[in-house]
Amino acid sequence: MIAIGSDHAGYEYKEQLKKLLDEMGKSYQDFGTNSPDSVDYPDIARLVSKAVVSEKFIRGILICGTGIGMSIVANKHKGIRAAVCESVASAKLSREHNDANILCIGARTIEWEKASEIIKMFLSTPFSGGERHMCRIQKIHSLTNL
Ligand code: RB5
Repeated sequence: MIAIGSDHAGYEYKEQLKKLLDEMGKSYQDFGTNSPDSVDYPDIARLVSKAVVSEKFIRGILICGTGIGMSIVANKHKGIRAAVCESVASAKLSREHNDANILCIGARTIEWEKASEIIKMFLSTPFSGGERHMCRIQKIHSLTNL
């Protein structure tokens, strides 16, 4: 199950994301927003981050104008490793090296076609594992206070 959310800037992409996930046969829960009316991205990032921390959701996808605000908020949560990806290569490495569990997309910075390729890569790439990467991830979380 994938937790998804956006602010107003990412609302249209989120609607497209739902179609993409349906096509991919992936189940998801939409944590809003539910219209193009202005909302505050921290509120949505908080909901999706809590959902992923709960482990009821294996991954999260957050969309705002740049992906940056969403990632800043998401990364305040213990257990969250959120990555803003503007390339397919970044999406692949965020999974392989960082075991990123939330993907942040910027609806104002990349075209939907590219975003959809990034999302597909993020959802299909496993963590490469290994002591080197595990050790670094443990160090990330030893620095987290929330
Ligand atoms: C909203 O205007 C915009 O600031 C937001 O979507 C996001 O880009 C913040 O990081």
